Amino acid sequence: MIDRSIRLTTARLSLRAFESDDASRLVEIQSNWNVTRMLRLAPWPPTLEAMAEWVDVHGQEWRAGEAYRFACTLEGQVIGCADIDAIGSGGAELGYFFDEAHWGKGYAREAAGAVRDFAFQTLGLDHLVAGHAAENPASGKVLEALGFRYIGEVEKFSKPHGRDVPYRLLRLERAWR
Ligand SMILES: CC(C)(COP(=O)(O)OP(=O)(O)OC[C@H]1O[C@@H](n2cnc3c(N)ncnc32)[C@H](O)[C@@H]1OP(=O)(O)O)[C@@H](O)C(=O)NCCC(=O)NCCS
Repeated sequence: MIDRSIRLTTARLSLRAFESDDASRLVEIQSNWNVTRMLRLAPWPPTLEAMAEWVDVHGQEWRAGEAYRFACTLEGQVIGCADIDAIGSGGAELGYFFDEAHWGKGYAREAAGAVRDFAFQTLGLDHLVAGHAAENPASGKVLEALGFRYIGEVEKFSKPHGRDVPYRLLRLERAWR
């Protein structure tokens, strides 16, 4: 089992398991519609109660090997999240979000790259999938920079929008390098 005290380090960030105290910072980050509108399963508006419940189940998911969600910290402050979930059949789904104040500096690429490497090297998964709203080209750029390739487009229900929206799906094999 992967210990919850594990740290993933990148050139500028440190990634660690979430703690209960992080819930209020996550509410702050997701209280921005520009962030949450891109998150398919996030409730809008965010509440501290719902966020605390989300963070609370991370330990259980982690121990069951179902999902690994990392707080991405910059100089000790949580600036985002990068995670893999839906783990099964040798694969998983990669996701992430960052505080808008920190966009455009390569942090998502850096953090998601560390989680991609964790999935392949530490967990030994053989593929990853990811999806982003068609109206979110920045996320597509991040995924393509990590080696993901476009596999198709589907309509999926977006919780914050309360309706189906078009999503681009991408996939990355372990032997991508
Ligand atoms: C998507 C998101 C994580 C990107 O974070 P970030 O730290 O700004 O990402 P990076 O700086 O690593 O890379 C962003 C890339 O998108 C590009 N980009 C930004 N806005 C863009 C736009 N409107 N159109 C096209 N490309 C865009 C940047 O130029 C950069 O590409 P480059 O490195 O080739 O120049 C961030 O915008 C976010 O948190 N959005 C809300 C939540 C979200 O969308 N999560 C993903 C759900 S699938």
